[in-house]
Amino acid sequence: MSSVVSTEAAQAAAVRVMERCGRLAQITEKPGEILRTFLSPAMEEVHSTMRPWMEAAGMTIRMDRAGNLRGVRGDATAPRLLIGSHLDTVPNAGAYDGVLGVLMGLALVEASGDKRFPFAIEVLGFSDEEGTRFGAPFLGSRAVVGELHERLLGCVDGNGVSVAEAMRDFAGRHPEAINPLLDEKSLAYLEFHIEQGPLLENSNLALGIVDGLAGQSRCSAEFRGAAGHAGTNPMKLRKDALACAAEWIIAVETIARRFDNAVATVGQISCEPGGVNVIPGIVRCSLDVRHAEDPVRDVLVQSILVEAQAIAAKRGLTAQTAQYHEHAAVCFDERLVGMAGRAAGRAGYSTIRMTGGAGHDAMVIAPHIPTAMMFMRNPGGISHDPGERVGEEDVAAAIHAGLYFLDEFAVNVNAMGDRQNA
Ligand code: GLV
Ligand code: MN
Ligand code: MN
Repeated sequence: MSSVVSTEAAQAAAVRVMERCGRLAQITEKPGEILRTFLSPAMEEVHSTMRPWMEAAGMTIRMDRAGNLRGVRGDATAPRLLIGSHLDTVPNAGAYDGVLGVLMGLALVEASGDKRFPFAIEVLGFSDEEGTRFGAPFLGSRAVVGELHERLLGCVDGNGVSVAEAMRDFAGRHPEAINPLLDEKSLAYLEFHIEQGPLLENSNLALGIVDGLAGQSRCSAEFRGAAGHAGTNPMKLRKDALACAAEWIIAVETIARRFDNAVATVGQISCEPGGVNVIPGIVRCSLDVRHAEDPVRDVLVQSILVEAQAIAAKRGLTAQTAQYHEHAAVCFDERLVGMAGRAAGRAGYSTIRMTGGAGHDAMVIAPHIPTAMMFMRNPGGISHDPGERVGEEDVAAAIHAGLYFLDEFAVNVNAMGDRQNA
């Protein structure tokens, strides 16, 4: 198949994607940093900012009851290729994690111009991938695959509002919102994302082809000791919950290092009562554990949680632990992964295959329809941080590759459908 777009046109499209990332980075619920959470006013402002861009590209725009932004270009009854990522962020985020993948979908629709494919393209801006508001991630993509189960709906935010209540409130404000479920003609899902790590930069490559994602667990640990006066209680008579948690946090690091390629992180900690002259009585910690092999992750999580009990018992405190989120590792669809690799090659880019360590909406969609991801080089490997960056020329490379992907998908659209129905 001949070249679908010139390098210059891909470059111009990349300039626009970068400008739009900059524009969306100004929309936040916390002045001074980028923060956008599930069903927040900032997310709605992102939607109203993106709508005119998507409409100008000939898309029909809907919002669903889980707060996902969805734009369809092409015949609504035709088979669909989904392209998307998320529009929410971690606290103090960078400008590209998630947003870039959604804008890539829009850029591919725009760059395709008047070209007609034998499939429609649905661009999805998921409402929650990070889990920042409720602790549990992927609320947007889980809604579209019908997996917002009771346990998730019952998770509460810092104000005691549950996921179910937040969604009811949102639906009340947006009676026009549609059912979140995937259209039954959805054939495949492609997600573009910054790598969020240093491998591509170290390999001197613009693009990586992702063939799977590591599994993840999220847990909580609460240590209860005895609060008391910081001046009058001798050290050996104390039950200091923060000292206990500190010993456990170091144990988390030590245990995780014993497992090849495992990562474990305590990213949140709260301490009560929180006075400078008060011995900490209650400490709550989060725990995030990842590994590409689920049985290894299971053993690691159990070892870490058992250690919390052991350290607390040794110090005369109690520990209560719970695992509230788990997502198995996924392998992407070999056929779609192959198409992504060939597309990058046709656009003139060498790639490597890689397993992603971060969570992505693709891991929720992959068990339901053929899925693949393409990573873009992330200078310094910095992500979940305001220092997050991506090069305009690497975005252009992804647009160029993405257009070749659309062409190959067009040739294979019938076979993809057969395979799904098989
Ligand atoms: C999201 O980016 C995650 O990996 O937790
Ligand atoms: Mn992220
Ligand atoms: Mn992301």
